Parts: sequence; structure tokens; C-alpha cells
Amino acid sequence: MPEKNILVVGGAGFIGSNVNQFLQEAGFRTIVFDNLSRGNEKTVLQGKFIRGDIGCMQDLENVFASHSIDAVMHFAAFTDVGESCANPALYYRNNVAYTLNLLDCMHQHKVKNIIFSSSAAVYGFPQENRIAETHPCQPINPYGETKWMMEKILHDYAVAYGFKTCALRYFNAAGGDPSGKIKNYPKRENNLIPIILRNVLAGHNTATIFGTDYPTPDGSCVRDYIHVHDLARAHHSALLKILAGAPSNYYNLGNGLGFSVRQVIEAVETVLGKPLEVIEGARRAGDPPFLVADASKAARELGWSPHYAAVETMVEHAWAAMQV
Ligand SMILES: NC(=O)c1ccc[n+]([C@@H]2O[C@H](COP(=O)([O-])OP(=O)(O)OC[C@H]3O[C@@H](n4cnc5c(N)ncnc54)[C@H](O)[C@@H]3O)[C@@H](O)[C@H]2O)c1
Repeated sequence: MPEKNILVVGGAGFIGSNVNQFLQEAGFRTIVFDNLSRGNEKTVLQGKFIRGDIGCMQDLENVFASHSIDAVMHFAAFTDVGESCANPALYYRNNVAYTLNLLDCMHQHKVKNIIFSSSAAVYGFPQENRIAETHPCQPINPYGETKWMMEKILHDYAVAYGFKTCALRYFNAAGGDPSGKIKNYPKRENNLIPIILRNVLAGHNTATIFGTDYPTPDGSCVRDYIHVHDLARAHHSALLKILAGAPSNYYNLGNGLGFSVRQVIEAVETVLGKPLEVIEGARRAGDPPFLVADASKAARELGWSPHYAAVETMVEHAWAAMQV
């Protein structure tokens, strides 16, 4: 699909930078728009970088007025569940109110195609072990609410204004650029694998398990980790579909394989070749025992399935991306 211009909003962050690179290698032209509040310009290896904030209509207007945009990929958001509980205003403003600026600018400039970074957090407390898109959406924290609100808003923009939208509900994004070129410069870490690895990098060979008496095979929580390069491939597939005129849709993006916290720690030990001191802590409120995706809809309709499914590979790539 040559000669198409893709606006990658939030493309200096972890997932957006990897998707940007994938799109470039697939022959798209990309414009990365990011305020660098949580990202880093050094992760944008190719494409044009514009520093701007979706909270600022003028920043958006400048980009849309000076480029012919064929589709938007929207990664820009704050992503920390705990922070969203402590400061919901920050989350509703950035993830919802400011995203309306982006949608309205798209509408004014007749840009209809958008791929949105949604989250497994839209589902809330799982009613089944393996979550399909048919699971009720009942978020249990402000972060999840912002994602679910945006999905509903996108639906309404599709009906009223003819937007073509695709919401991709990621489970736990993990890993790093397999080529090792994109490094990871996070301003904060929210996910288990990088939290453990940062700890090791800081010289502490410890890992904490919050809750060891869950009804899971080894007593620790089980989660679905999906490699960032597999997310990038899914975005590319969704983009091709939407540019070909497919109707609006939404998909889970997960591995379908759950890994327990203990298994993740064992994978870190294997990759680093040294044991970690495991600290067994109390359960955290609101942590379900098991949260794993049924991603068969994406397999059927996007022709997508994960290539980097092994947790050891995700740890290896995440560790390499941290060596800056
Ligand atoms: N990482 C995960 O496991 C995960 C899981 C589910 C969904 N998501 C969603 O995927 C998207 C990307 O997540 P990530 O892990 O790459 O996060 P990230 O924090 O690394 O990237 C987000 C980027 O958006 C930018 N940004 C934030 N607010 C902005 C604004 N107002 N204007 C312009 N840029 C802004 C930040 O500077 C950052 O570069 C987010 O929408 C997140 O909610 C992530």
C-alpha cells in the first residue's frame, strides 16, 4: 500500500515506536506526533517526527493542514491503572477529552480512518478464564473507563460521520524490537516484565509476587503477554483492512497463552542466567487470578497470530531494549 500517509499519534512511546518502524518497513510514510510526556524521540527511527500535544487544537491543526493523512493510529494516552485511580482527572482529560480534539480535527479534514489502542481493561473483572470480545465491558478503574468511553465515542463517530474505526484491545504488551534497534526509555514502568528487569538493572536481584494463594496451577496470577512486534503486525493487518474499506470493528490482541508471575520470574532467571530472590507479598486488591485473551476473532478476520509467543523471547527482547 505505497504512498499512504499514516499519522502515528503517541508514536514515541513503547508500542507506537515499534508500530511506526513496522509501517516504515512495509512501505508506508509515517508522521509521528507525540508530546514526549511519556515517550522519547530517540525511539522514532524513521518517518517525520512532530512534537505536539493532542490537548492543543493548534498543534493538531498544523499537522492536518500540512499533510494529506490517509489514516490515524492513536496510541497517545496515559496508561497506569494505579495513577488513574489516584488522579482520574488526568486520565479523563488526556485519554478522552483530548482525544476528542483529535477526532474533531480528523472530521474537519475529512480523515475517516482510525486505529485506536484499546485495552483488555475494558472488560473489568473477568467472568470467564478466556476473554472473547463478547465478554461484557464493565471497566473497574478510570483507565479502563477511558478506553471503553473512547470505543463508544468511536462507534458514534462511525455512525454519524462515516468514520472507519478499529479498536485493538491489547492484553499485556511485552518484549522489545527483535532487531534490537529501538531502545526503551520509559518514564515509568507499569508491566511485570520491565518492572522486574529494571529492578535487576538497578542492582536488586529480587522479584515480588503479590499473592501466592490464587486458584491457579502455581498460586500466582496468570496473565496474557503479547509481544510488541506481534502487536505491530496486527496494526499493519488492521490498517490494510480498513484502507480496503472494511467496516468498523474491534479485536482482542493477546497471546492466548497465560503465564503466571512465577513463570515470568523463571523466564527472567533463564534469560539472565542467574536466580532471583523471590519475595512473596500479599494479594493486591482488584487483581483477578486469571486474565487471558481469546484472540480467535483476530486470527479469523485479520489473519493474525502471534509469532513471538514464548515468554523467554519476550524477556530477552525487553532486556536487550533496556541496554541503552
Ligand atoms: N503497554 C500495554 O501493555 C498496553 C496494554 C493495553 C493498551 N495499551 C494502550 O496502548 C497505547 C500505547 O501504550 P504504550 O505502552 O506504548 O504507552 P507509552 O506511554 O509508552 O506511549 C504513549 C505515548 O503517548 C504520548 N502521549 C501521551 N499523551 C499525549 C498527548 N496529550 N499528546 C501527544 N502525545 C501524548 C506519550 O508521550 C507516549 O510517547 C496506550 O493508549 C495504552 O493505553 C497499552
